[in-house]
Amino acid sequence: MTGILYGLGIGPGDPELITVKALRLLKAAPVVAYPAPETGESLARAIVAPLLPGGQREVAIRVPLLVERFPAQEVYDRAAVELGEHLAAERDVAVLCEGDPFFYGSFMYLFARMAERFPVEVVPGVSSLTACAAVLGAPLAARNDVLSVVPAPLDEAELRARLSSGDATAIIKVGRHFEKVRRVLEELGLSERARYIERATMASQRILPLGSVDPGDVPYFSMVLLHKRGEAWS
Ligand SMILES: C[S@@+](CC[C@H](N)C(=O)[O-])C[C@H]1O[C@@H](n2cnc3c(N)ncnc32)[C@H](O)[C@@H]1O
Repeated sequence: MTGILYGLGIGPGDPELITVKALRLLKAAPVVAYPAPETGESLARAIVAPLLPGGQREVAIRVPLLVERFPAQEVYDRAAVELGEHLAAERDVAVLCEGDPFFYGSFMYLFARMAERFPVEVVPGVSSLTACAAVLGAPLAARNDVLSVVPAPLDEAELRARLSSGDATAIIKVGRHFEKVRRVLEELGLSERARYIERATMASQRILPLGSVDPGDVPYFSMVLLHKRGEAWS
């Protein structure tokens, strides 16, 4: 017998957007783990802070924000060993995942290292994709629209090609790539059809037309939603 590793989707920021199942498992877990920056507070932990029962053991997985993958891979190697010790001692471990664990979530790095040795359960969450559409007040896709998710770190030519096709697009991981994204959308004549959403459902949420965004002040938790046909649902 071992404990169970839970990948808990905790939603995009508003603590009320956690599912009933994730809340039950969170409150029962003797060990709660979460990604965190090298220094400072974990966003995932901050989201569930008002819901934690207290008394749980906590493991912060401190991931350096680097372009190269290898230092981060070592962090996950070490985290897998530490969490594996709790599981071997029959303690369930809940890993907090902002949004949904399997929608571009870093939980997959632990999943890849641990799923063969321990029972794993993934609890889906409200992802930033649907949360951004909700706070924008605009359906994400309608009828036969092709919806694409495009990461902003792609190089400019690839970004242009991806944004040229499809009907509805979510551009994620915007952060320091905002200026490039805005330039490509302007070149394609699409900027009026796009909106910028920052920290959706959090207290500090902002929604702006692209022209009003200061590229020097764009956080990682931001997204651009584009719908080429405008109000395709009306
Ligand atoms: C590594 S992905 C993780 C996505 C997450 N697992 C989910 O289900 O939404 C991180 C990207 O998701 C987007 N994102 C996550 N939360 C967001 C939020 N509350 N508001 C706007 N964008 C968000 C941003 O584009 C960010 O760069």
